[in-house]
Amino acid sequence: MVDAAPITPGPFRKVMGLFATGVTVIAAREGDEIHGMTANAITSISLDPLLALVCVDKQARMNRFLQSAGGFSINVLSEDQEALSRYFAGSWKPPAPPEFRFLPWEGGPRLIGCVAAAGCAIDRTVEAGDHWIVVGRVIALHEGDPTARPLVFFGGRYRRLAELEVPVPPEEWSNDAVHIYYDEWSGTDLSPPLTGEESPP
Ligand SMILES: Cc1cc2nc3c(=O)[nH]c(=O)nc-3n(C[C@H](O)[C@H](O)[C@H](O)COP(=O)(O)O)c2cc1C
Repeated sequence: MVDAAPITPGPFRKVMGLFATGVTVIAAREGDEIHGMTANAITSISLDPLLALVCVDKQARMNRFLQSAGGFSINVLSEDQEALSRYFAGSWKPPAPPEFRFLPWEGGPRLIGCVAAAGCAIDRTVEAGDHWIVVGRVIALHEGDPTARPLVFFGGRYRRLAELEVPVPPEEWSNDAVHIYYDEWSGTDLSPPLTGEESPP
């Protein structure tokens, strides 16, 4: 048997980069100092209790601030805030920083002008390879200007949302069982078909 070629980080990043995300700035305060870090590895986890997470590179300076602050804010950037994403990702080139302002807030400082924000108290930190998964208990929520549009990151580039010509209603979902029926299995390079409860009788 010939071993499959090992998957290297480059293709992994490329494939995962095809998952379109918003862009956030995670912010934490240590004394008088505020530290922000651009992050898109964030997700909501739980409604009871309210939990959200951010994955932080072990090399990031952000870790020191998170540890001592005990909380952080997740600030969802608007499409007008691309410069802030570059700035807080360390890729801003001009000599003067872009304009921004933080407000004192619960969990961590809140970035003015963002689409939305969540303030979190750190619940736990879990080691995962070269990152820390930082789980936060959500203690504050903020909705910004309802007409503001989010910045989007896809395929390693910043994007804008395009409005559909015919608006569709917002998506809703539930945890009710979904039954999946297979007529045939014709996959070649994917996992085998699902078996068990959701297979047809
Ligand atoms: C769109 C985008 C998303 C990013 N997402 C993350 C992320 O989720 N976690 C992370 O650790 N770094 C992420 N980064 C990289 C950090 O922003 C970057 O390494 C930053 O310089 C770390 O800041 P610090 O070392 O000053 O804390 C992202 C960068 C960009 C441009």
